[in-house]
Amino acid sequence: MIFLATFFVLSAVWPSALSVTRYSIEEEMESGSVVANLATDLGLEPGGLAQREVKLDIFHSKKYLDVNKKTGELYIVEKMDRENLCLAKTTCFLKLDVIIESPLRIFNIELGITDINDNAPHFRRDRVELDVSESATPGERFSLPNGVDPDVGKNTIKTYKLSVSEHFTIEIQTGSDGTQYVDLVLTKSLDREEKAVHNLILTAVDGGVPVRSGTANIIVRVQDTNDNPPQFDRQTYTINMTENSPIGSLVMKLNATDLDEGLNSEIVYSFTLYTSEKTQDVFALNPNTGELTVKGTIDYEDMTFYEMHIEARDKGTHPLLGQCKVVVHVTDMNDNYPEITIQSVKNTVDENIPVGSVIALVGLSDRDTGDNGNVSLSIHQHMPFILNKSSDRPLHYKLIVSEPLDRESVPEYDIILIVRDAGTPPLSDNETITVHLLDVNDNAPQFPLSFYNIRVEENNAPGALISSLSAFDPDLHENQYLVYFILEREIANTSMSMLFSINPENGNLYALKTFDYGPCRVHILRKFTQIK
Ligand SMILES: *[C@@H]1O[C@H](CO)[C@@H](O)[C@H](O)[C@H]1NC(C)=O
Ligand SMILES: *[C@@H]1O[C@H](CO)[C@@H](O)[C@H](O)[C@H]1NC(C)=O
Ligand SMILES: *[C@@H]1O[C@H](CO)[C@@H](O)[C@H](O)[C@H]1NC(C)=O
Ligand SMILES: *[C@@H]1O[C@H](CO)[C@@H](O)[C@H](O)[C@H]1NC(C)=O
Ligand SMILES: *[C@@H]1O[C@H](CO)[C@@H](O)[C@H](O)[C@H]1NC(C)=O
Ligand SMILES: *[C@@H]1O[C@H](CO)[C@@H](O)[C@H](O)[C@H]1NC(C)=O
Repeated sequence: MIFLATFFVLSAVWPSALSVTRYSIEEEMESGSVVANLATDLGLEPGGLAQREVKLDIFHSKKYLDVNKKTGELYIVEKMDRENLCLAKTTCFLKLDVIIESPLRIFNIELGITDINDNAPHFRRDRVELDVSESATPGERFSLPNGVDPDVGKNTIKTYKLSVSEHFTIEIQTGSDGTQYVDLVLTKSLDREEKAVHNLILTAVDGGVPVRSGTANIIVRVQDTNDNPPQFDRQTYTINMTENSPIGSLVMKLNATDLDEGLNSEIVYSFTLYTSEKTQDVFALNPNTGELTVKGTIDYEDMTFYEMHIEARDKGTHPLLGQCKVVVHVTDMNDNYPEITIQSVKNTVDENIPVGSVIALVGLSDRDTGDNGNVSLSIHQHMPFILNKSSDRPLHYKLIVSEPLDRESVPEYDIILIVRDAGTPPLSDNETITVHLLDVNDNAPQFPLSFYNIRVEENNAPGALISSLSAFDPDLHENQYLVYFILEREIANTSMSMLFSINPENGNLYALKTFDYGPCRVHILRKFTQIK
């Protein structure tokens, strides 16, 4: 299509070249398109050109056009791109001379080339990355690159649009030279933890028909500010730990999380002042890993639970912190032996001590708790003693005589008391109580025989030793010392003491008279009584 806008200024006057014939075409017309009929427009006879020499001289340019000598038509040889020919100039034309010889005539032609919207706006960089601080306040502006559209006039960029965003909008400013500048404006505060990257699309739109546009990706990376404190997932962690856990054992690994990034989310753990020195002697906290380990001896009998207050602090320039509490309940182990305490004891008692008498009072203790501290007391092997609980708290037993005792059978007892707890494995201890029995004169002296038959030779000399009698007493000491004497009795009207005498100390029996054979008598020494 040709918008024929031929301005016939002046009829060409030979040989001068003062008149200028103007044509206007749109850029990008296909080759072969006819721009004008020179023969008609310049007042030449059609067909008259055929015999003449026609030269087309285009200034400073390629040979985009030519003249058909038969028809006199000026036609396009090669497509013209206004932007290529004239860059950003708002008006664009080619100057050409049509030189016809014999006779020589020169026609000046100005071929205006009008813009069509053949270029879409574009951006030199179609991806722009912007770093915006999380703490940026609404209203802050960030420059965006301009779009480029080589077309001119209404075909060049008219406006810009931004993809829908909760946080951003754009504002366009026009410089004094008409250049548009695009600013990205923050409309709502950013939260990196909610959205770290905003992908926006900036569209440059031209005013042509049809409208053309070009886009650039605007990637807004939100720069972290330390606006989140480290957080533990619980306020209190409760842990069971057996006492005597080996040094280095892991109690737990603390893990606070911080939604920020980089140093703002790197955490250092420490005990706060509310954690006692004593507790800090028992537990160690790795500041970097949050590992809580055993450092000292955990003794249930010393502490049944420990409470630690721990804080997590991030490494931001203005650090934020979070806190938690760790409570360690110590589980008792059977690590303490039960103990026997002899509170009072009678180590020597009379052998005739009555059954039921208390020999000793025994206290029991075990520092462990529960089954580990549940103790029972027993007597090793059978003994004539029993135990009777006398009080529960503190635990006391009485050691009581359960059977009559007899020094002459068993003069002393080694009573082994065994205490045992109910832990697994059970622990036991023992204590020996030695009881000596004191002699009581509870045994009568005894002759081996109750009846002695002694033969005496006839005509014995008076005073002769006729026998030696010996009695035995199992008692001790003075209870054992014997004195022999003869019971007064008459034999045939004669007093016994007239016939016999006995050595009180050794029981030697002497005849005081001479006995005749005839009346062969048997003298019975029936009984000796003891002297106390
Ligand atoms: C700790 O021990 C108590 C009983 O002593 C038990 O009820 C509790 O469940 C235990 N807790 C853990 C975390 O094992
Ligand atoms: C801490 O917890 C977070 C989530 O709760 C988890 O992703 C991370 O791996 C944990 N870190 C450690 C060292 O346990
Ligand atoms: C101690 O153990 C005995 C049995 O061995 C049991 O009968 C008693 O209830 C236990 N006492 C405690 C306090 O556990
Ligand atoms: C044990 O003691 C209780 C009172 O404490 C008493 O009633 C009971 O008879 C005693 N048992 C023996 C065998 O002594
Ligand atoms: C008493 O305890 C000792 C060690 O303390 C042990 O060698 C002995 O076997 C125990 N005696 C009894 C009867 O348990
Ligand atoms: C003992 O004496 C009494 C009287 O004094 C006399 O009757 C008796 O016969 C005497 N017995 C002997 C055995 O001599």
